[in-house]
Amino acid sequence: EIEQKVEALLQKMTLEEKVGQMNQYNGFWDVTGPSPKEGNAALKYEHLRKGLVGSMLTVRGVDEVRAVQKIAVEETRLGIPLIIGFDVIHGYKTLSPIPLAEAASWDMEAIKNSAKVAASEAAASGINWTFGPNVDISRDARWGRVMEGAGEDPFLGSQVAIARVNGFQGEDLSDPLTIAACAKHFAGYGFAEAGLDYNTVDVGNATLFNTILPPFKAANEAGVRTYMNSFNILNGIPATGHEFLQREILKGRWGFDGFVITDWASIREMIPHGFAEDRAEAALKAVKAGADMDMESYAYVNELVQLVQDGKVDEALLDDAVRRILRVKFELGLFDDPYKYCDEKREKKVIGSKENNEAVLDMAKKSIVLLKNETQLLPLKKKGQKIALIGALADDKTSPLGSWRIASDDNTAVSVLEGMQKYKGNELVYEKGADLTVGKTTFLDELVFNTTDRSGFEAAKKAAKEADVVVMVLGEHGFQSGEGRSRTELDLPGLQQELLEEIYKVNPNIVLVLNNGRPLALPWAAENIPTIVEAWHLGTQTGNAVAQVLYGDYNPSGKLPMSFPRRVGQAPIYYNHHSTGRPTNTDDNVFWSHYTDVEKTPLFAFGHGLSYTTFEYGAIKLDKKEYQKGEPVKVSIDVTNTGNYDGKEVVQLYIRDIAASLSRPVKELKGFEMVTLKKGETKTVTFTLTDKELGFYNNEGEYLVEPGTFKVFVGTSSDNVQESEFKLK
Ligand code: IFM
Repeated sequence: EIEQKVEALLQKMTLEEKVGQMNQYNGFWDVTGPSPKEGNAALKYEHLRKGLVGSMLTVRGVDEVRAVQKIAVEETRLGIPLIIGFDVIHGYKTLSPIPLAEAASWDMEAIKNSAKVAASEAAASGINWTFGPNVDISRDARWGRVMEGAGEDPFLGSQVAIARVNGFQGEDLSDPLTIAACAKHFAGYGFAEAGLDYNTVDVGNATLFNTILPPFKAANEAGVRTYMNSFNILNGIPATGHEFLQREILKGRWGFDGFVITDWASIREMIPHGFAEDRAEAALKAVKAGADMDMESYAYVNELVQLVQDGKVDEALLDDAVRRILRVKFELGLFDDPYKYCDEKREKKVIGSKENNEAVLDMAKKSIVLLKNETQLLPLKKKGQKIALIGALADDKTSPLGSWRIASDDNTAVSVLEGMQKYKGNELVYEKGADLTVGKTTFLDELVFNTTDRSGFEAAKKAAKEADVVVMVLGEHGFQSGEGRSRTELDLPGLQQELLEEIYKVNPNIVLVLNNGRPLALPWAAENIPTIVEAWHLGTQTGNAVAQVLYGDYNPSGKLPMSFPRRVGQAPIYYNHHSTGRPTNTDDNVFWSHYTDVEKTPLFAFGHGLSYTTFEYGAIKLDKKEYQKGEPVKVSIDVTNTGNYDGKEVVQLYIRDIAASLSRPVKELKGFEMVTLKKGETKTVTFTLTDKELGFYNNEGEYLVEPGTFKVFVGTSSDNVQESEFKLK
């Protein structure tokens, strides 16, 4: 029925109106105020009234959305409603942890629920489309946008992609509390050379098909309605003008029938990329390649009509794009009621509700990873202790909100200090030690770090000396990761490392709570500090989540979704690498694959994460030693809680295809299960491997399952596993 409606409408449309549907503008003036008379805003306003705009982004709030929608619906000839897009990345007003942190939970239900909460708040604010999830796999912590993804692994990344798409879109896209999702950035963006944002991507087909594309494919299988292409060049061709990616793979092989939005001005950026001489050529290449909607390049709206009239672009390409866009608008129910997302009462009720805060708190606790707890400083005793809390980030209500959160207000997070203050049985002393930044600390400014003012050191040292336990909150500011935030150092910025070492001299009983949007390289801390908690940027409820974990009211169960390097020079470092021909030092000389100055292993491996309790793994049990192709392989293992607390463990299964027509990684995650175990309890966890897990893509993108020997590993992290093997006939 939708298809008929789409066709009927398409038949009525002029060439200009078709182009209009393919044009998206950013919010441009106070839509609830007087109409703009000059400049770019006036031009956009005119375009909107003429039906030359199909979508807007960053317009928000019921009043604004209604005002802008009214123009599209009431003033244009066909009254086609706008689809309203927004970067709902980890929450709208009530913020969840940054996406990388959420991935550390390995809890798909929680992640889905977090996306559902985000969707409900955005939808209540008039928005019906998010530019998320970001499903870019990335192995390079220097790249600031690792905070937006699910880490380095395509299997985990695919599960997270599915959970997020389902959370945003729900069962029914026309439900006014769900929104359309957008898998981005298609494709390869996370493989920017040297971790430098927007940089060239040059990867082989093995990496493209086996590592980069799987989460995008999974998103399609979950029914994602849109994709965003990408700023980068992929193997010489800008993703926005990449016909093979968008037409051959996405719309061809995968049968995707929603639409592709460009990234911001990415059509225009094909000119500096050296792929188009001018805007007209850029528009031509983008539309031919399958980019359906132009975000802020002004290319389609200004060039496409002429290109069609000159016979350079076939109007059928425009028809295809418009069909896709209209289809999604119909599915959202916008033609039935263009104002369905505009209900003030709902807006007031949903945004910032108690339930939403409870949901993001739950997600935040689940995202925390206990990296080290050597002397059992954690959980903290609840009574009779003197605790010194140190670090500027502990008293910060903005940084914990993280990056990419344009609808939320600064200063709205529960700080760690506030969270800790709720536990009244201990004496808590707070000392900042040193400011982290100087000058403006905003999303739009380059941060400047304090490297000189140590005036708070003495007070911090005094507090530490007098304390039983020192809790230090150190790391990156929330605005230090995200788009345009690449780094060449992965250390603690400013004076934090120095402060940490000074405090350690007076009291080594330190619990280091890390706040960061990417893996950091902290070899000194890993060597010397007995207890390290990875607390990322956890969103609105940060302080409550951290305090509840530190005090043992929540037993941590998170696992790292990205490897943490020992040194920046190891980047990109990832667990599922291929083997060199010289992986170990068999000949006792220097000619093997290693660094001369540091171990080549990560500081903290992919999948690593401890609990307050301990788990012991039995031996792997396979139901057979040989299997026919297509036959399910059953892998079981007993896991026992051997410690003093009830707890949850993410049991991880990896495989290695020992020899194949394409070299396969030394380990590949192919299953995981979270088990809850009471003190002393044992459970048997069983995984089933099928062709879906045992195969791989060759360089032509064909999926192959090859006979031979497979190793199978099950354990608590990628570097701590039991091992067995089987043969596939
Ligand atoms: O969605 C984003 C994208 O990830 C980066 N460029 C801008 C877009 C819209 O804000």
